[in-house]
Amino acid sequence: MDPEIARELTARRPKIVFDVAVAHDLDSQFAERGFVALERISPDEEIAWLREVYDLLFAERCGAFRGGYFDLSRPYESEGPDRLPQILMPEIALPALRETCFWRNGRAVAARLLGVDAALLRGWGHMINKPAGIGEALPWHQDEAYWDPAFDYRALGSWMTLDDATPESGCLRFIPGSQRGDIREHVHIGDDPSVHGIETRDVDEASAVLMPVAAGGALFHHCRMLHSSLPNRSASPRRAYANEWQLEPVPREVPYPRPWVAEGKQAWDAREPG
Ligand code: NI
Repeated sequence: MDPEIARELTARRPKIVFDVAVAHDLDSQFAERGFVALERISPDEEIAWLREVYDLLFAERCGAFRGGYFDLSRPYESEGPDRLPQILMPEIALPALRETCFWRNGRAVAARLLGVDAALLRGWGHMINKPAGIGEALPWHQDEAYWDPAFDYRALGSWMTLDDATPESGCLRFIPGSQRGDIREHVHIGDDPSVHGIETRDVDEASAVLMPVAAGGALFHHCRMLHSSLPNRSASPRRAYANEWQLEPVPREVPYPRPWVAEGKQAWDAREPG
């Protein structure tokens, strides 16, 4: 991001204190189902500012580092309009994102749900955009399945939407209780490691729960939660902003067998510089 624009956006960030309202049984809901919903995590003024930041980052295809922007649903460097573009670690491009209510409340709620000291949690963000009309579905997966299999994790994701996320615009779906299972077999979408997104097949969707969320609301889900999102068939974008919160990962003596991770890394490393 242009440093002048970054300075200007940083100066205009709404300095609002917004403490999130948390249900008394949030922890037990999370332990039981593996996910919880919060009606609001960020105030209107901040959502307006975040939409501006978000649209600018996506218009510039602005990864915070080389290759940090790509379409999750198609091979790297595909032609034509992106259907599920993602930006990794936007807080590196604009550190003011770490000062937002979304970041601060997200860390506090994550610490409570994981039962750990908030100061020990490290966070990193990603933005996943589903463009109006052509936004692609994201198939069933567990987030931990993307991560380095040489470590054990204590982690969850906080997912906020900047637009109303509905069944028509591509809201999330969860399988309650699935966080208690192991990491399932995954493959890259279409069995093509040059597609960043991964999927696990043969999921029994009968117990899936659709989770519509209004703009400014958030979902928190365990890193082993089975989840997916629907395509965006609506006339509006569905702009989602997620932060992952985790304790320092613990090295394993024997890594988990997750061959899709190494296959994906090889394809990532082979990308054209740009
Ligand atoms: Ni996910």
